[in-house]
Amino acid sequence: AGPCDIYSSGGTPCVAAHSTTRALFSAYTGPLYQVKRGSDGATTAISPLSSGVANAAAQDAFCAGTTCLITIIYDQSGRGNHLTQAPPGGFSGPESNGYDNLASAIGAPVTLNGQKAYGVFVSPGTGYRNNAASGTAKGDAAEGMYAVLDGTHYNGACCFDYGNAETSSRDTGNGHMEAIYFGDSTVWGTGSGNGPWIMADLENGLFSGSNPGNNAGDPSISYRFVTAAVKGEPNQWAIRGGNAASGSLSTFYSGARPRVSGYNPMSKEGAIILGIGGDNSNGAQGTFYEGVMTSGYPSDATENSVQANIVAAKYAVAPLTSGPALTVGSSVSLRATTACCTTRYITHSGSTVNTQVVSSSSATALKQQASWTVRAGLANNACFSFESRDTSGSYIRHSNFGLVLNANDGSQLFAEDATFCTQAGLNGQGNSIRSWSYPTRYFRHYNNTLYIASNGGVHTFDATAAFNDDVSFVASAAFA
Ligand code: AHR
Ligand code: AHR
Repeated sequence: AGPCDIYSSGGTPCVAAHSTTRALFSAYTGPLYQVKRGSDGATTAISPLSSGVANAAAQDAFCAGTTCLITIIYDQSGRGNHLTQAPPGGFSGPESNGYDNLASAIGAPVTLNGQKAYGVFVSPGTGYRNNAASGTAKGDAAEGMYAVLDGTHYNGACCFDYGNAETSSRDTGNGHMEAIYFGDSTVWGTGSGNGPWIMADLENGLFSGSNPGNNAGDPSISYRFVTAAVKGEPNQWAIRGGNAASGSLSTFYSGARPRVSGYNPMSKEGAIILGIGGDNSNGAQGTFYEGVMTSGYPSDATENSVQANIVAAKYAVAPLTSGPALTVGSSVSLRATTACCTTRYITHSGSTVNTQVVSSSSATALKQQASWTVRAGLANNACFSFESRDTSGSYIRHSNFGLVLNANDGSQLFAEDATFCTQAGLNGQGNSIRSWSYPTRYFRHYNNTLYIASNGGVHTFDATAAFNDDVSFVASAAFA
């Protein structure tokens, strides 16, 4: 059985079921998600294998030598409640016409029972939505939902959500949403410790219990894979959570609606959001693997069976890098491969990261500017950070999508901005080096300056022409 078979047996059927990693009904054989590739704009649907796990090999073959975005996350419930690129609302997204970004298809690799699959890695600016969903709860009607998330990928911005929201993409008032939130925002509610927390986004508030502020019963989460559940019915709601890779769910809150006006009765509208707030607030980040919404208030027993099913799916981490290997502790120089520029290397001039022509007869200072010590990724040790040879303690990081050399300030943002994952070079040479935190974006030289660029996008440096060459660099032993 799949999670939605279990919800059906419990009398609270799935009305939306989304996953890029596996089928959520045992009998589901339709498409899980659609990817679009950068080389020619072609799309393909990725379906489950007979095991129920997504056919990641089909994605890898389709996307070989180019980039891919997740364009559609199909609804497996049969209601057609698919998630697509979120439109502008109270806030606009960073893409053209105010749409949000789409997620990279390779930002969140995992295995399920040893088989490779990909989750949805939501960077700030990324969001999916369906403003015309059918069968989802409206008004004060009962519903439940769960999501499996990466407990180590979050931030404090509004709002990494999955669940029920406004059909207008605008804030229409208290109680007009009922969604799972995950992150360490302290603007509204908080739980114990420093977060991240599972909370409920009920509009104009993230709630950790009946008190609109702190509720100590809602714990900080430290699992790599998290099951997060929220459910609500007239004057009753609950937050539950646990380790998606083992054990059972705990109840973090169950009781009356918040003690502030507008949330009892609720005014749910029935749209579905992923990675954003109800008004298309899009500063948050997180990773989504699977989730559903139900009709009716699921029993704890039903949710406990769903948790057992999730644990049995055996989510585990998969490598974030591929292609020619870099060795932590070694020092490298990184040569451009675009025909214009094959004698140029990634260098810094002060805090600017650029390319310059460097050779064995260059001055020592320039050789040092072209030399980088490979470190374990500051935000994720499955990837890398690049420390300057001549300015120890300073690392290549992105800022406003440019690459700069800055001293490590110890912050989560710095660590994430300075973490990069290598893969085989998109043009077949060396490595392409993608941002861990924005996996659609790669080290790219453009007019001899370094950026993190996506393959098509709103910035001039996102140009598709020469993209594969501009993002491919050959690593060699460092000049200095
Ligand atoms: O409730 C928190 C957030 O407040 C909602 O997600 C958003 O619509 C509003 O800005
Ligand atoms: O480079 C994109 C973002 O810009 C970085 O994450 C942040 O440091 C800056 O605001």
